[in-house]
Amino acid sequence: MTVQIVTTRDALRAALGATRPGLVPTMGALHAGHLSLIARSANENPLTVVSVFVNPTQFSSPADLDRYPRTLKRDATVAGEVGANLIFAPDVSEIYPPGFDTVVEVGALAQRWEGASRPGHFRGVATVVAILLNLVQPARSYFGEKDYQQLQIVRRSHRDLALPGEIVGCPTIRDDDGLAMSSRNTRLSRSDRSRAQAIPRAIDKVRTAAALGEMEAGALERIARAELNRPGIDLDYAAVVAGDSLEPIPRLIPGARILIAANVGGIRLIDNAAIALPETAPE
Ligand code: PAJ
Repeated sequence: MTVQIVTTRDALRAALGATRPGLVPTMGALHAGHLSLIARSANENPLTVVSVFVNPTQFSSPADLDRYPRTLKRDATVAGEVGANLIFAPDVSEIYPPGFDTVVEVGALAQRWEGASRPGHFRGVATVVAILLNLVQPARSYFGEKDYQQLQIVRRSHRDLALPGEIVGCPTIRDDDGLAMSSRNTRLSRSDRSRAQAIPRAIDKVRTAAALGEMEAGALERIARAELNRPGIDLDYAAVVAGDSLEPIPRLIPGARILIAANVGGIRLIDNAAIALPETAPE
């Protein structure tokens, strides 16, 4: 499949014409997690646009922004292999022209969990996603459940601001060792990588305990913390929450999720999963 790379709003519009494509917003450095979203879009839409834009407004430190990997040529090739037609890779000034002074700020949903340790992060995400959706006018946009809070924030701003198309959440792709794929994983040392496997293990233990009838959020969180309480893992949160509001809940409800964030070797890792209710839930 030949992929076309466009870098300006005008070239994007010219390439799309009246077609409403599938859109997969990314920051590049594409891995199998991203590619699963692109393949899904290619399957569900006549044309798929992948945006590759390392969005400066969602980074809290200039050093982090600088060291974010930029691999556009390779990204275009691998995206094309799974069905992308168009790569939109704008410069910063194309997204934020001189004088840009508007933000999208989601309320309570963006304040807790990742929002608490990364102030301003979700403002940057919600703002760039609104711009991308307005520029591309997609029929469907694809986001990973890997970044579950981000997905919920995108759903909320999409609904509240009547942004175009539909938001499609896609399952987390994991490596063979259980770790959720992330561009950050490449920065883990070999020993930190094996430590980090405690995160998916903690999730599995929580899901198993729930399947066996444990309904108390506090007990489930203790199971996760016990698994993560090891040298080299600095746990930020392991929380059982409502799947839509992300507020803590005392007992499992339909749609409940476990959210985990931990620093391993100085790298912040996040993961999450749905927790199914036990089949014969006590009343
Ligand atoms: P980025 O981290 O590049 O991720 C792009 C998309 O890929 C997001 O929707 C993310 O949830 C999804 N993704 C990442 N790892 C995944 C995995 N292991 N399995 C399934 N999906 C996965 O998220 C961003 O970029 C940015 O915040 C963005 C939305 C593009 C706004 O700048």
